[in-house]
Amino acid sequence: MSHSQFTRSCKSRACGALSGSARVPGDKSVSHRALMFGALAQGETLISGLLEGEDVLNTAEALRHMGARIGNGSDGLWRVRGVGVGKLAEPSCVLDMGNSGTSTRLLMGLIAGHDFAATFTGDASLNKRPMRRVMTPLEQMGAKFLARSGDRLPLTVRGPENPVPVTYSLPVASAQVKSAILLAGLNTPGRTTVIEKEPTRDHTENMLRHFGVEVSIEPTADGGEAISIDGPVTLKPCAVDVPGDPSSAAFPIVAAVITEGSEVTLSNVLLNPRRTGLYQTLQEMGADVRFEHVRIESGEKVGTIVARGTRMLKGVDVPPERAPSMIDEFPVLAMAAACAQGVTRMTGLAELRVKESDRLLMIAKGLEACGVKLEMGEDSLTIHGTGQPPKGGATIETALDHRIAMSFLVLGCVSAAPIEIDDASPIRTSFPGFIDLMNDLGAQIETDASY
Ligand code: S3P
Repeated sequence: MSHSQFTRSCKSRACGALSGSARVPGDKSVSHRALMFGALAQGETLISGLLEGEDVLNTAEALRHMGARIGNGSDGLWRVRGVGVGKLAEPSCVLDMGNSGTSTRLLMGLIAGHDFAATFTGDASLNKRPMRRVMTPLEQMGAKFLARSGDRLPLTVRGPENPVPVTYSLPVASAQVKSAILLAGLNTPGRTTVIEKEPTRDHTENMLRHFGVEVSIEPTADGGEAISIDGPVTLKPCAVDVPGDPSSAAFPIVAAVITEGSEVTLSNVLLNPRRTGLYQTLQEMGADVRFEHVRIESGEKVGTIVARGTRMLKGVDVPPERAPSMIDEFPVLAMAAACAQGVTRMTGLAELRVKESDRLLMIAKGLEACGVKLEMGEDSLTIHGTGQPPKGGATIETALDHRIAMSFLVLGCVSAAPIEIDDASPIRTSFPGFIDLMNDLGAQIETDASY
């Protein structure tokens, strides 16, 4: 599925206090994994709360091309009839992953555990993103690749007849790379181990256990973790409840804390500590953000987020080691920092350069156009907040990046003049219904289509 070639602009203007309760769509990372593990289990997996965004639908379509039967009913449940580990079939067409890096990198790992070939392509954003980080470990396991220059899509992967297990130390903090290796390891005889120095999201480990796979997690001498599986494994079909996405919740929550008098409640949100760095940072900035009704469901921590716009935010230093737990939230944190009083320094942001866009650059360009003073470094961003909402009045280039699009629409809720974004269509990749949800809470976002 690819985006329309036509730009679809959208404008956000200052609104009063936001108030109300809502549920954000299902977590994207958990949704991709639920479909993939369902396809590898033998029998029927039932998924509730699946994110029906374009990225996840692209994962479902790719798995159908490899023989899994996947459908949804009027009851809102998704049913995946899996074929068993190592039993997927070679796709007879090119797999179009649209905008989705997670689908592509995880499926590259999954295919590297099968004795067949598959070719991936994507939209203009995905076809620019680096794939070397997953190719290197998968090549060590026996996979072969033919990629466009710069190790970019379109790319063909050929899984080996006899995959070999590896012990691989992650050179970048990336859950996608960790997951790709573990997915290849599922059908690889012997012990596959991934060593990570900094903790990254652990949904693959949690969900593998939920599907009955033994996952060993041992601390390493330097404070990291060694995650191992002994292949080949069998996955037992099961029921998965996908909680709301904390990365999507971030947009209405930041909108609430920068808008005086707001009170927004979002129930059933994933609160895995490896995903909640933004919320900790907002609390350090003085925001009134709380977690309530916290519990464990389907192996993941879940709860309600309540945010109030009662206090002026203050600038803070965000430590680099926190970056993996809020890697997708820096664009919206930058909007909060632009409204805060004082300087916010964010470091350890190199990975932002290789997301759906060069996010560091797109944040800096957009905020400068809105009248915000800042300094951008190679992997850092310093924002000088004045304690006043920025002037706004700009049209923001979103570069096929959903999170850049939603972040600037959030800033428009408080800026002196409206903020327009040049293309709202990428919002559908991760947060269908975003504009309706925001407007139901009291935002004033105008568009001629539904996103
Ligand atoms: C994801 C991991 C992160 C994140 C992406 C989803 C995942 O990417 O940015 O949106 O589901 O594993 P990296 O692993 O490349 O940091």
